[in-house]
Amino acid sequence: MADYDLIVWNDTLVTGIDKIDEQHQILVNLFNEANTKLTVNNSAEFLEQITRDLLSYALYHFEAEEGLMQKYGYTEDKVEDVATHIQQHRSFSTKVVAVRNDIKAGILISREELLAFLNGWLINHILNTDKRLAAFLLVSEQYRG
Ligand SMILES: [Fe+2]
Repeated sequence: MADYDLIVWNDTLVTGIDKIDEQHQILVNLFNEANTKLTVNNSAEFLEQITRDLLSYALYHFEAEEGLMQKYGYTEDKVEDVATHIQQHRSFSTKVVAVRNDIKAGILISREELLAFLNGWLINHILNTDKRLAAFLLVSEQYRG
């Protein structure tokens, strides 16, 4: 079983947009909680709970980010970045919904697979995709923290 480190919040993860950074810290905490509490054998109930919490907070967070994109003109200015960004949000949700459907059908995702997906997605998305959005917002004349 491969092990995953806890994600330690640090400056490389900071986008500079407070609202986004605060929400990312909550997502990182949810990942760390899953990392700490999942064992080799988990009940369907526990997996459902963990994936439900992650999905509901992620959906709330995606809506907030996509709201900022609209509000500050990212959607008009950076059409390709926006398409990629939103596609990554949707693919996260689609994956977690599929995992949850499997759990309901009795197919339980392993700790390793779930953590690998979450860790890879979160780090890649924050470091690359969200930082592009933040860079745009930080130089936007209308954006006021
Ligand atoms: Fe995002």
